[in-house]
Amino acid sequence: MPYAHITGWGMSVPEPVLTNDDLAKMVDTNDEWIRDRTGIRERHIAREDQFTSTLAVEAAIKALQVANLAPTELDLIIVASSSPEYIFPATACLVQDQIGATKAGAFDLLAACSGFIYGVNMAAQSIRSGSIKNALVIGSETLSRFVDWKDRGTCILFGDGAGAFVVQASDKPGGVLSAVMHSDGSGADSLTLLGGGARHPATETTLAEGKHYVRMDGKAVFRFATRVMGSATKEALELANMKLEEVDWIIPHQANYRIIETAAKYLKLPLDKFVINVDRYGNTSTASIPIAAVEAIEKGQLKSGNKVVFVGFGAGLTWGALVAEWTGPIPTKKHVHPEQYRLFARLRSLIRRALRFLEGLFSRREL
Ligand code: ACO
Repeated sequence: MPYAHITGWGMSVPEPVLTNDDLAKMVDTNDEWIRDRTGIRERHIAREDQFTSTLAVEAAIKALQVANLAPTELDLIIVASSSPEYIFPATACLVQDQIGATKAGAFDLLAACSGFIYGVNMAAQSIRSGSIKNALVIGSETLSRFVDWKDRGTCILFGDGAGAFVVQASDKPGGVLSAVMHSDGSGADSLTLLGGGARHPATETTLAEGKHYVRMDGKAVFRFATRVMGSATKEALELANMKLEEVDWIIPHQANYRIIETAAKYLKLPLDKFVINVDRYGNTSTASIPIAAVEAIEKGQLKSGNKVVFVGFGAGLTWGALVAEWTGPIPTKKHVHPEQYRLFARLRSLIRRALRFLEGLFSRREL
């Protein structure tokens, strides 16, 4: 049975930064309150011309560069997102087209902030089953588009960004060691975005009622999060036959500094075992774990051979944890330039659109 290794990683955040002081000019809040209750100082907000797929593609190309893997070699693309570009088509298909992943299947995964863990687990399972060899898992968000900038209870929390992992088959032991995924729909009301779906299709009324915005019972989510972060970590470690002491790093979903602090206390682990960057990005939902991982690698914290736990929670309610032995790129003699495939992909996409147009013309004539 092949092993599923994480061999590439990349992140992308939009340049514009919104600080707590900026927010204090928009709603009745202040820097001290936000830092005190959440640990957040600033977050990145996508420009008008940046979309969930834009950030996803940038993170994906970087991850493929690290893995030294051509997009044409990908078998599967999973985009986990709480703010997909459309209900359909899947953002994953937009990414597939833009990077030129000619043979990849592509789909979106909706498990809110737990989505990245779910996605990496799905990719790893497919690799271990022998059905695929190379997968790209992306967490990408432009949640700022769904935030009510008049609601101080939510608008202070979220930021935009994307992170991506390449997951590849190898005979060498290691890589993804275990994962647990959980859900509890009885808590669905705690965190919602109700408008625009089949139950509340977009109308003037849904707009007036603000159903297109994120709504949250912050206290309920906080209580739930602090309960499940530690238990999911323990459960995944048990499945991997590992003890807490063997873990080098815990990379949690970055929602709130206090939630991470409570999880550390529950696990009786020092906070410096946790990778924390919520102060600079806020809650980037599915992107928060891969962004934190990329930063940990770039700082020289997370290294090849390290044992790492990814743990997250989110709307649904959902939660999960994944244990991995960190790998790094699979050594190879070839040297791939994934960014060059983007140009080829653009051309290919144009030709396919033109052909589809011509096909439409001719088939109309035949009718
Ligand atoms: N600035 C100033 N005051 C505020 C603000 C603000 N931004 N927001 C709320 N307050 C006020 C409230 O009105 C309240 O005032 P009152 O006592 O006069 O009524 C007081 O501050 C306390 O409010 P609480 O809501 O009790 O504050 P709390 O300590 O619970 O912190 C927070 C709120 C930060 C939202 C916290 O509950 C939290 O982080 N919850 C978890 C949220 C989360 O992780 N969500 C993401 C899930 S992942 C996903 O799937 C997207």
